[in-house]
Amino acid sequence: LYRPDRANSRGLEFGHRETLRDLTRGVRAIAFPAPEARPLVDGKAVDGTARDVKSPADGKAVVGNVHEASAETADRAIEAAAKGFESWSRTPVEDRARVLDRIADLYEARQDTLLAVIAAEGGRTLVDGLAEVREAVDFCRYYAAQARTLFLDKTMPGPTGEENRYRHRGRGVFVCISPWNFPLAIFTGQIVAALVSGNAVVAKPAEQTPLVAALAVGLMHEAGVPGAALQLVPGDGAVGARLVAHPRVAGVAFTGSTETAWRINRTLAAKDGPIVPLIAETGGINAMIVDATALPEQVADDVVMSAFRSAGQRCSALRLLLLQEDVADRMIEMIVGAAKELRLGDPADPAVDIGPVIDAEARDRLRAHVARMEKEQRVRFAGTVPGGDLGDGTWFAPHVVELKSPRDLTEEIFGPVLHVARWKAKDLGRTLDDVAASGYGLTLGVHSRIDAFHRQVVDRLPVGNVYVNRNMIGAVVGTQPFGGSGLSGTGPKAGGPDYLARFAQEQVVSINT
Ligand code: NAD
Ligand code: ALA
Repeated sequence: LYRPDRANSRGLEFGHRETLRDLTRGVRAIAFPAPEARPLVDGKAVDGTARDVKSPADGKAVVGNVHEASAETADRAIEAAAKGFESWSRTPVEDRARVLDRIADLYEARQDTLLAVIAAEGGRTLVDGLAEVREAVDFCRYYAAQARTLFLDKTMPGPTGEENRYRHRGRGVFVCISPWNFPLAIFTGQIVAALVSGNAVVAKPAEQTPLVAALAVGLMHEAGVPGAALQLVPGDGAVGARLVAHPRVAGVAFTGSTETAWRINRTLAAKDGPIVPLIAETGGINAMIVDATALPEQVADDVVMSAFRSAGQRCSALRLLLLQEDVADRMIEMIVGAAKELRLGDPADPAVDIGPVIDAEARDRLRAHVARMEKEQRVRFAGTVPGGDLGDGTWFAPHVVELKSPRDLTEEIFGPVLHVARWKAKDLGRTLDDVAASGYGLTLGVHSRIDAFHRQVVDRLPVGNVYVNRNMIGAVVGTQPFGGSGLSGTGPKAGGPDYLARFAQEQVVSINT
């Protein structure tokens, strides 16, 4: 068993009434609008183009204010990081690791504020927000523990009279670009991995979630990350593109869509000078395959959780459910029955299951997809947004669509739309080929009581994270290292033992003694 010397953060018992009451009170006590998010260059706040940040749960509610960085600020941030690298890269590994441990402690101490901003700005429910704070904390402590052993200089065997030392050092300036759907955990995971490996960082959060990012960076600086070692550059994709194109960039860590990863890859490939590594974690058309031996209640529960939790806005979420023909009708009935019970609403209300989708563009894309499905396929369940006291938010209720063929789902639909297709035992091989044909390889679910069936499915599909007889979301740091293959990413797996090595470069020093 692989046992790193640390423990994951402790969760809360949501079934415990007092715990829930205290948490909700703490979160509701946080006043809005939150402080602004400004570019931070060499530890100093810089002006940019100001705009209000609105809540996806209520377009009339201003959550805070962001100053988006200009192209010049983006360039200055890279140059400041290049200077910051000189001293940060020489800071002993133990000191860098201790800073990560302190970030984890500060995140835990400021949990209520983080949860409040994650819910208000990102539309994430309290359950999701709490899981996200814990994941961010786990990334910090896990990478700190990893760094303490991985980055120790090692003496390699060699002839008498010679000493061969194998060491790791930071690469230089790492640009970290993150998505809105895990505005704290993914944002933090990339940055702390790059920092503890000895790099200076320029962080560009998603344009939808700059406030969570600014709060997190403030806590990182408070924990001891020098201003010059970590710059914050809020802005849109064009700002990200500007950062990536800068000649001083030594590495890029990106999480987001496959299309954006392709763009970044092309920019890096077109640059002269050193070859710049790209770590990309991208999307998926994630399938779950269910045979006739599976336990129906468990399948229904795991499907609803995997497809609709977080309003389906997880890269890991279930998109394509493949049901063996014999059990398909019953399973669809149970899943639709369970989906009808889900409660849509204010993400800061602990009784709510599903918050809003991130913005009007996302909602309109989902509406257009369902309209197309209504013409081409069979919509088995179209959830409705309840009227009443729901704010002017970007709501989209769960849908279940039955496809004629698994191949009819050709793109990642990023929201609470579950697609279902049927398969017959004699066609299992073709069904698995259909899943593989998408080219993605992020998560896969299998429900069956037959071991040989799991093995056949798992061996056929080159997918990063496979979940058997359980739900397929919520990978745990250090337990289920997370990341995909093919169109879903380059690896290494976040929260796994090989992650940090990709942020560092090795050096061998051979000394004739
Ligand atoms: P996105 O690709 O639109 O944006 C991600 C980030 O890239 C944002 O910060 C954005 O501003 C920036 N960006 C956009 N264009 C850029 C460019 N040309 N150059 C540099 N940066 C640019 O993705 P999103 O909508 O924010 O996130 C959803 C996507 O992320 C989904 O596809 C989801 O599957 C994926 N995702 C993957 C993982 C994973 O671990 N594999 C985790 C979360 C999300
Ligand atoms: N790591 C996240 C999950 O597993 C994306 O759901």
